[in-house]
Amino acid sequence: MTDSADKKPAKPVVLTCAQPTGRLHLGNYLGAVLNWGRMQDDYECFFGIVDQHAITVRQVPAELRDNTYSCLAQYIACGLDPAKSHLFAQSHVIGHTELAWILGCLCPLGQLERMTQFKDKARKHESVDAGLLFYPVLMAADILLYNAELVPVGDDQKQHLELARDLAEKFNHRYSETFKIPEPFISKVGSRIMSLQDPSSKMSKSDPNQSSTVYITDSADEIRKKIMSSVTDSGSDVKFAEDKPGVSNLLTILSACTGESISALENKFVGKGYGDFKKAVADAVVATLNPVRTRYETLIKDRTELDKIFKAGAEQAQSRAFKVLSKVNRKVGFVERPR
Ligand code: TRP
Repeated sequence: MTDSADKKPAKPVVLTCAQPTGRLHLGNYLGAVLNWGRMQDDYECFFGIVDQHAITVRQVPAELRDNTYSCLAQYIACGLDPAKSHLFAQSHVIGHTELAWILGCLCPLGQLERMTQFKDKARKHESVDAGLLFYPVLMAADILLYNAELVPVGDDQKQHLELARDLAEKFNHRYSETFKIPEPFISKVGSRIMSLQDPSSKMSKSDPNQSSTVYITDSADEIRKKIMSSVTDSGSDVKFAEDKPGVSNLLTILSACTGESISALENKFVGKGYGDFKKAVADAVVATLNPVRTRYETLIKDRTELDKIFKAGAEQAQSRAFKVLSKVNRKVGFVERPR
């Protein structure tokens, strides 16, 4: 048998990243992280914690460090498995900022100034640092540094991914074929979880009304309290409908937690009131998040273990990153690094 017949075909590379900003909530879990976890067997997955992106807004250093550890522990608790995937901190891998610089030299300033998220954030802050403007270029580098093919992202990141595609094409055109053009991966089962108090807006960690948001680390009591006091709609039917955004949101949550279809759930609650329905939702969320919280509490106590996981992830990510980076450097015309 020849060597190449022996080798399994390489799995397609998936990459996604998140900023280390405190606690994950039920929307992050059901709408994103749970689905990332489901990709781990079929793809080679890179999951980055982007601490370098986080400093585009002011951070308290000790909090940033704590949040980065906490983010790793939460991801693992949610099912991202360091034995299957590469979990790493952005600042641990040489290449993200190097590639961002090179891509930045291909990127028209106007394209960055037109980014919706930049305009929104710039409006909210008195003065704007160059890092905030450059944020999408660093994100493009995160993706291209691993030559990722699929990038699971939410709607709000689609414009940034479009920029990554543009920059990959530009580089390929100016130098020669180097980068795969990354595709957004929008999961079919990705649920859109809304606020428990105002179901017209997304569940969010920055909601001033904290009973709107269930965190994956909330206790069973906290979860029950928040769900039982969630807003419902007029009438008493448990139906998924446009004029019933509160009930529809709870149905989405229940369906995502139990795996039962929305219509099966509607049938189950015919003739029962909102009280019974909410109790079922609360039970399902508690059952879903209990093991997550327990795993998190164990992991977060053991920084030595988390450091080990960061180290292994950084090594795996670095080995792929160096390959791509040295190819890029050569194509750009940099003299090979003296060994
Ligand atoms: N900008 C993304 C967010 O705020 C985080 C991010 C950074 C990212 N680099 C990435 C997402 C690369 C996907 C791929 O959600």
